Amino acid sequence: MKEIVVTGDRPTGKLHLGHYVGSLRKRVEMMESGKYEMYVFSADMQGLTDNAKNTDKIKENVFEVIKDNLSVGIDPERVTLFVQSGVPELTELTTYYLNLVTLSRLKRNPTIKEEIKLRGFEESVPVGFLTYPISQAADITAFNATLVPVGEDQIPILEQVCEIVDTFNKTYGETLVRPKYVLPENKNSRRLPGIDGKAKMSKSMNNCIYLSDDTETVRKKVMSMYTDPNHIKVTDPGNTENNPVFIYLDAFCKDREKYESLKNQYEKGGLGDKVVKEYLFEVIEETLKPIREKRKYYDAHPEIVEEIVKEGTKKARTKAQETLQKVREKIGVEYFNN
Ligand code: TRP
Repeated sequence: MKEIVVTGDRPTGKLHLGHYVGSLRKRVEMMESGKYEMYVFSADMQGLTDNAKNTDKIKENVFEVIKDNLSVGIDPERVTLFVQSGVPELTELTTYYLNLVTLSRLKRNPTIKEEIKLRGFEESVPVGFLTYPISQAADITAFNATLVPVGEDQIPILEQVCEIVDTFNKTYGETLVRPKYVLPENKNSRRLPGIDGKAKMSKSMNNCIYLSDDTETVRKKVMSMYTDPNHIKVTDPGNTENNPVFIYLDAFCKDREKYESLKNQYEKGGLGDKVVKEYLFEVIEETLKPIREKRKYYDAHPEIVEEIVKEGTKKARTKAQETLQKVREKIGVEYFNN
């Protein structure tokens, strides 16, 4: 039997290069290997957990996220693409799992803690938001997923998912499957900094290069990137460690020899930022060109995207129903013979 892979993206905005190297590229690689049964979804219900009054944003992006996945090369013939809210079984699973987690455990989750801080929620955090690791446990276990390709920030969420699986199985008998997260091998791909040098590429920080940016926009963004502030003259030795230009090159450059030689030259002195940025622009464009082409096709054919998602959601639902049935039986939520 094939191993099962599940992953999702919140439709709170278009996906960017950080998503690409952090998770999308890995999905495509896994798909190409032919070794896995795969599910990828637009996590609209999770997106709503901190956007209850901002529903337009979610609605506008539900299909954008699907298109981002299609554009990077996810093939709907080989991967089931669906929308989370189209599978209500996930919500029922969530309700059963809610009873297996304590409030204090949720509040201790480092990712949740950090996200609450970032949004300035403090005590007024929406309950749905605080409990999203639990609904994520439903997303993952509904499909018996063993592998979950995600960004590094999702590790504590996956740890909590595993705890829920263990508690469920201990309480009701072996039922759910324990998942593992999958990160990119390349360390710099795990968390891409923003073009401004801030720790993370993030829509709210306005420091992203989007998969859907056109060539001119990408050029402008790359040429304006933060580099080593102490690398003033071309002849000065430069720092490549905390330098987003080199971090991006490490994440994107396929010509490893060239990457190593540029890095050496920059560290020794004698290589200007402009030259490196020109090269980085070329490298990123090489990645983005085919993505843009595919996106153009799907942008022109929304009916095809809709059909893909409709079919995928039907398939995902059937699979989730099987798990839900088992879960109900184990808990004893079964009161009628027929
Ligand atoms: N939390 C993920 C994110 O913010 C999205 C997500 C929801 C997800 N459900 C999932 C990822 C299940 C992996 C598996 O990007």
